[in-house]
Amino acid sequence: MNKRKTILDIQKMKADGDKITVLTCYDYPTARIMDSCGIDMILVGDSVGVVVSGHENTLPVTLEEMIYHTRAVQRAEPKALVVTDMPFLSYQIDVREARLNAGRLVKEGGASAVKLEGGEHVAATIRAIVDMDIPVVGHIGLTPQSIHRMGGYRVQGKQEAQAEQLLADARAVEAAGAFAVVLEGIPLKLARRITDELSIPTIGIGAGPHCDGQVLVIHDVLGLCEKYSPKFVKRYADARGLIADAVDRYIADVKGGEFPTEGHSFS
Ligand code: KIV
Repeated sequence: MNKRKTILDIQKMKADGDKITVLTCYDYPTARIMDSCGIDMILVGDSVGVVVSGHENTLPVTLEEMIYHTRAVQRAEPKALVVTDMPFLSYQIDVREARLNAGRLVKEGGASAVKLEGGEHVAATIRAIVDMDIPVVGHIGLTPQSIHRMGGYRVQGKQEAQAEQLLADARAVEAAGAFAVVLEGIPLKLARRITDELSIPTIGIGAGPHCDGQVLVIHDVLGLCEKYSPKFVKRYADARGLIADAVDRYIADVKGGEFPTEGHSFS
């Protein structure tokens, strides 16, 4: 039987001191591979807009796109808990719309939980979605949907006042009922303080080694991106080189008459 991980399993991992592994995923074959490796959580991130669709940032991503990619991942029937990002403008306007859109990600996409960016100012929205029995992951610190306010992708919480605000944000997200929170782009000492204080798991990205779990974008892990790779990324493969090599050899074979052969043909 395919026993799927639940939010209770993820929360127990914090209690047990067992690190939570999370990767982004946007398609069926990658979800099959990741799941066979035993990843704990799959995040259908709105980073899809950047690493798959080629946008400059995550702001253009639509709810329909998030539903489409969540469905593709769900068809892999992963044991991992599948969490889907609520894209920009799907939860900021009002709570009613946020509830409807979170519901669509679960009902049409098949997500088991949703993630949304922000702290104190989205606490009421988190509470409203949790009250519909949809589990929520918070996301504070460097929140990519706030790129224009932040003036770029900058580490947050370096100044004392900013750090205090992030602590307040973390407390607000937990109090609103989120079952976990992503800490992105914050100093490691602050991430440790938040992790020690909260009873829900913290999932870090660019937040140092003391979080309860870690998330990375799969394209960064595989070395698929041409663009600049941030300091917090660890690359585990050169998939770009691998693909380029295969395509080079294919072109050479076809041009040189090496492929297709009679063996690849029907009589
Ligand atoms: O969209 C995404 O990939 C994310 C992670 C970077 C946390 O939100």
